[in-house]
Amino acid sequence: MSSALAPAPVEAAQRRSLELDQAVREDPHRYRVLTGDRPTGRLHVGHLFGSLLNRVCLQDLGAAVMVLIADYQTITDRDAPDSLPADTLGLVADYLAVGIDPARSTIFAHSQVEALNQLLIPFLSLVSVAEVSRNPTVKEEFGATGGTSMSALMFSYPVHQAADILSCHANLVPVGKDQLPHLELTRTIARRFNDRYCDGHPYFPAPDGLLSVAPLLLGVDGQKMSKSRRNAIPLAASADETAQLIRGARTDSLRGISYEPEHRPEVSNLLLLAALCQGRTPQEIAQDVGDGGAARLKLILTEALNERLRPIRARRRELAADPSYLRHVLAEGNDRARQIASQTLADVRALMHTVY
Ligand code: TRP
Repeated sequence: MSSALAPAPVEAAQRRSLELDQAVREDPHRYRVLTGDRPTGRLHVGHLFGSLLNRVCLQDLGAAVMVLIADYQTITDRDAPDSLPADTLGLVADYLAVGIDPARSTIFAHSQVEALNQLLIPFLSLVSVAEVSRNPTVKEEFGATGGTSMSALMFSYPVHQAADILSCHANLVPVGKDQLPHLELTRTIARRFNDRYCDGHPYFPAPDGLLSVAPLLLGVDGQKMSKSRRNAIPLAASADETAQLIRGARTDSLRGISYEPEHRPEVSNLLLLAALCQGRTPQEIAQDVGDGGAARLKLILTEALNERLRPIRARRRELAADPSYLRHVLAEGNDRARQIASQTLADVRALMHTVY
């Protein structure tokens, strides 16, 4: 889901993200990170370079990382599909395969954490219908459905997201730009709860968004890479499928290959992807291609990507063959999330004087 935002808040968030990046490196133990994905299909290389590797990095620095499978968000705009169990376990496999370590990080599904969901009720009392209506994603959805068929769950989903974040006292939330308004609403809810119920001793932290520094990757058709557009290279794709996807990627008709994201978005995107795989710059890859044209660029990229993904794919195959282990990891994560959220709910009840 993407929304046009005025540039100013995004730039401010980018600057703040750079400061936060530094702060986490200096004192990782001050941070509890929460972020997650909807279980709506296989994760792709856009996720890998845009968010997954960053989560692993935060984990390895020593921050407490919670990875949320947002299964209730999938019923905001579609019927609960019977593919949900497979998609959910598939996400767990993706996470573990890229290096999320269940001994250090917590993977959980929010439908399994009762106390988290219960926080939605007091939180809904802290925002007005007008405020939620101004959320760009909600507004867009309202427009797209002509204002008639949007579910009330879709309407309240930014508030539900505040429950995700605040139930575990996360203070750092790695997100894409389109999620910044949700985070602003989370901060508003935290502030209002503290003002109304906490008598000068704030209970909820106001979480910060952490924007990815990785540039946005395009799909093989030159559009934004997306699970739903069928233009993505899935992590779980085979080496042959990857080669085929890249062979079919859009390029342009110029023979020389150069990195010019503004003028040559498709070619530049392929260069960028190869560069991310090899930890080099897109300009270096362009030099390697020389005057070999798009065909050679595609060969180089296919090799770079298959090489980079090889260990991840091998690990993922092993994991996928053992669903009971994946279920076990998720059950343990759910338990840990339940413990944290139950404590939060108990505190919230005490602060709200709803203890009888
Ligand atoms: N809305 C996010 C997405 O579509 C997923 C998500 C749900 C999330 N709850 C969250 C992300 C809390 C960060 C924090 O990708």
